[in-house]
Amino acid sequence: MNKIIIAIDGYSSTGKSTLAKQLAKKLNYIYIDSGAMYRAITLYFLQNEIDCNHLDSIRYALSQIHLNFVHQQIHLNGMNVEEIIRSMEVSNLVSEVAALEQVRVFAVQQQQFLGKERGIVMDGRDIGTTVFPDAELKIFLTAQEDIRSQRRFDEMKLKSETITFLEVKTNLAHRDHIDSTREFSPLTKAIDAVVLDNSHLSMDEQLEIAYRWAMEKVMG
Ligand code: DC
Repeated sequence: MNKIIIAIDGYSSTGKSTLAKQLAKKLNYIYIDSGAMYRAITLYFLQNEIDCNHLDSIRYALSQIHLNFVHQQIHLNGMNVEEIIRSMEVSNLVSEVAALEQVRVFAVQQQQFLGKERGIVMDGRDIGTTVFPDAELKIFLTAQEDIRSQRRFDEMKLKSETITFLEVKTNLAHRDHIDSTREFSPLTKAIDAVVLDNSHLSMDEQLEIAYRWAMEKVMG
């Protein structure tokens, strides 16, 4: 069977990684969470107090960063940081870091390398437009803003993070704004992407739709 590349893009907390993970499992493909890479870079910048306005510091910091995935969990310089990169501290800064041109070049190069054998599902903001413009299937996932904020809020409460609904909603709106208005590869729907609005779909329903689209492409 043909191995294809599946790009899943969309705003924050639309459930991209849930769908991407389930789809990859069903197709026996590799799953890559590109957002985790930007989050891990942000964590390094925070830990090492890197000045985002200083090009040389950014360049040096990137030369010290090694990212890899082990069982779908991101590792930063050999340490599993999958959990800590989801903290509010990282969430509040990640869009600013991800907007830096050097950071994007660094991450995109690694993402393209990971997809060279195809058979991959990658989710993010610019996967269908910049990372894999030749992806066979591009899904642009959307959901109403309040529904997205509620889902994220519920998820964070489960992890017993002390946070209000308003803080979550404000963070999502802030990230969406920066992600879609930045100069380098902003979040935008690729012209050949199919829109999937999951506001009123269950996880099983959205998986079924995406899987059907994928199989149509695999069968060519
Ligand atoms: O998917 P996420 O919320 O974990 O992503 C974290 C941030 O990383 C998001 O606010 C924007 C950025 N990002 C990006 O700029 N490009 C990607 N391909 C993936 C994420």
